[in-house]
Amino acid sequence: MDKILVLAATGKTGRRVTSRLRAQGRRVRGASRSGEVRFDWTDPGTWERTVDGAQAAYVVAPDDPGPVKSFVDLATASGVRRLVLLSGRGLDHAAPDFAQGMAAAEQAVQASGAEWTILRPNQFNQNFDEDLWHAPLRSGRLALPIGETPEPFIDVEDVAATATATLTQDGHAGRLYELSGPESLTFGEAVETMARAAGRPIEYVQLTPEAYRAELLAEGASKETADALNAMFALHRAGHTTEPTDDVRQIIGRPPTTFEDYTVRTAASGTWSL
Ligand SMILES: NC(=O)c1ccc[n+]([C@@H]2O[C@H](COP(=O)([O-])OP(=O)(O)OC[C@H]3O[C@@H](n4cnc5c(N)ncnc54)[C@H](OP(=O)(O)O)[C@@H]3O)[C@@H](O)[C@H]2O)c1
Repeated sequence: MDKILVLAATGKTGRRVTSRLRAQGRRVRGASRSGEVRFDWTDPGTWERTVDGAQAAYVVAPDDPGPVKSFVDLATASGVRRLVLLSGRGLDHAAPDFAQGMAAAEQAVQASGAEWTILRPNQFNQNFDEDLWHAPLRSGRLALPIGETPEPFIDVEDVAATATATLTQDGHAGRLYELSGPESLTFGEAVETMARAAGRPIEYVQLTPEAYRAELLAEGASKETADALNAMFALHRAGHTTEPTDDVRQIIGRPPTTFEDYTVRTAASGTWSL
């Protein structure tokens, strides 16, 4: 059976892609700086062993656009015939200095000569319990510069299911999919849903971009991180990513998980308890 390489295998999507592929009995090589196989975008010396013998690869782009093309060239020269890239919804409307790694990765896989599929998801549900918004939620206050713009949040399990399908099934070559959850919610509604499931109050505060930036810097974020997060919210506020799509159902044959189901599942695991 083909060997499949999963980059960012310790991350939110990669570890789920890895376990789904293994559950199907596939041979998988999970790679990242701290993964089973050491792979570092900043250290080309780690690349050859990572791609050796792989026929397909799940690629999560680095922030820095620099190394992507060389890596994709090496992977295809080494025999990788299928590339599935995790990108982000709305990329075509992003500011030129935002998400440059993703843009470079999209170009590199499209020019690779391999079968490529690009997955552009909306904001992940799991940002609320495994990533950026987790600590604010636990403290009982989430403050963001997104206003009333709705977001069709997607569950990372659904991203992983679509990645697994596109890595292992034919019929997805040359396709660019926009992956969303089944419904759009404002961040205020999302927080309300979580507070209900958790059985305790969680405050949602709307900030201006300037106030958000000031809060991030006061919390110790770097200027680059504050700028990148503000650019991401500017992209969402522009309204290009607000509508649910049907792509998850088209790929995996079932509708995506609702936000309500996610919150019930996550609240039951005690994630937001103080
Ligand atoms: N969060 C969202 O809502 C959202 C929505 C759409 C798209 N995305 C995109 O999803 C991507 C992130 O994917 P994710 O959420 O699955 O990952 P993640 O949870 O953010 O984890 C980052 C992964 O990248 C690996 N990594 C970091 N630096 C690396 C380096 N220098 N070399 C090799 N590996 C490195 C980390 O592993 P090690 O630390 O072991 O190296 C880890 O596995 C980003 O491109 C983001 O823009 C996110």
